[in-house]
Amino acid sequence: MYKEILSKIEQPEAFQPSEKMFWQDEYIAKQLLKAHLNPNHEGASREPKFIDASVRFISQLMNSGDRVVDLGCGPGLYCEQLAMRGYAVTGIDFSENSIDYAKSQASERHLPIQYRFEDYLNMDDVNTFDFATLIYCDYGALSPNNRKQLLKNIYRCLTESGRLFLDVFTVNKYHSFVEGKQWSMNNHGGFWSAHPHLEISHNKKYDDEISLEQTLVLTEESADVYHIWYQYFTKERLIRELRDAGFKVINEYSNVAGEPYTDRSETMAILVQK
Ligand SMILES: C[S@@+](CC[C@H](N)C(=O)[O-])C[C@H]1O[C@@H](n2cnc3c(N)ncnc32)[C@H](O)[C@@H]1O
Repeated sequence: MYKEILSKIEQPEAFQPSEKMFWQDEYIAKQLLKAHLNPNHEGASREPKFIDASVRFISQLMNSGDRVVDLGCGPGLYCEQLAMRGYAVTGIDFSENSIDYAKSQASERHLPIQYRFEDYLNMDDVNTFDFATLIYCDYGALSPNNRKQLLKNIYRCLTESGRLFLDVFTVNKYHSFVEGKQWSMNNHGGFWSAHPHLEISHNKKYDDEISLEQTLVLTEESADVYHIWYQYFTKERLIRELRDAGFKVINEYSNVAGEPYTDRSETMAILVQK
């Protein structure tokens, strides 16, 4: 047992996926949705004021009547506001729980949003959208191959001169990432499991501005490990990846609310065009 557990938390190679995918685990997906909808918690979605400012800014970047796709839309916090501003919005997410919630909210509010329960790495739309968004730094959570695949899918799904707006964490955030090991007893269940469990987490920096947050969740019956990887970006690295995928850079910002770019910011947003 001890050896089996140790082997699960041996230092994995960068971007090695964990055996279990936390976004789609039924119990964890519910905790994530709660986190998305909690206005005081920035773990899954940003705080409402910032989302409002971001939507105001993003809609200035769009042309009226644009067909918009929000990739990794979660419970639809951006989709709803964009639909209220008159854009034809599609939201894509591979968390069924979030998509079900988003659909029910849209129908309650009579918003004509198309929600798709789908992995954006598998989307095959061609020439369909004028504007794509990928918000809350999801791009850096993907492995290099998956980032390439996603940019290929986005490029293909955009119409001629279609645009993509996305944000990432910068190397400044990598520098402030704190390495360490922690444990906690959760006798009444917690974020990772409904059952009593011991949680051991290990935050580790890798070379090339990559971090791993590894969490081992031990219950009476199971030992599950979850990996959260992140590739932090210099401006040059982000631009290189986008150019390699065929995009032209239009403008850079410090965040998706459109604050001017500075090299001190922990996030960077970028607007690119096909
Ligand atoms: C950090 S959350 C951000 C949600 C939303 N953009 C926001 O800011 O409120 C990341 C979202 O991306 C979704 N996601 C991650 N990988 C995905 C994939 N391969 N295909 C579709 N959705 C994905 C997750 O399910 C989650 O809802």
